[in-house]
Amino acid sequence: AVCPGTFDPVTYGHLDVIGRASAMYVAVIVGVVNLPWRKGNTLFTVEERVAFVQNATSALPNIEVEPFSSLLVEFARTRGAMAIIKGLRAISDFEYELEMNQLNRRQAPDIESVYLMASPKYSFLRSSGVKELATFGGEIEDLVPDEVARHLKERLGR
Ligand code: PNS
Repeated sequence: AVCPGTFDPVTYGHLDVIGRASAMYVAVIVGVVNLPWRKGNTLFTVEERVAFVQNATSALPNIEVEPFSSLLVEFARTRGAMAIIKGLRAISDFEYELEMNQLNRRQAPDIESVYLMASPKYSFLRSSGVKELATFGGEIEDLVPDEVARHLKERLGR
């Protein structure tokens, strides 16, 4: 299975979904979007974003982390994945993911998308919120791995 995302930066919410996917599939490839279409410039380079996910998942033997610059379904196909795994938090995610699902299904009807519901303690966690907190000196230690928190404070702290 492929777990795709921008991961700018990875949060404990992403890691929860990745960890649960790793228990369900023989192999999980975390696909880190190089240049996301909808999100403009990322705060962290793709190399940094990949390294953060790699360091946070190093204890899980069946996970690989790779950047990709193609269509998601092409990436999934070239890596031999049968499924795309996504996390869903609140209803607000549903509309966006439904649209993505239709786009992806049109391109590759054979690759199924699978949705894991966010664990309640992470259901309002998103990377942009963590970046906002980091900018204004909020507590982020329980939202992202220590390495990520350090880099966020260095880059954004005012
Ligand atoms: O919102 P995210 O987590 O940054 O999602 C990124 C991604 C690639 C999972 C989402 O944009 C998607 O499902 N895109 C499907 C269309 C596609 O392949 N676009 C090219 C890569 S942006």
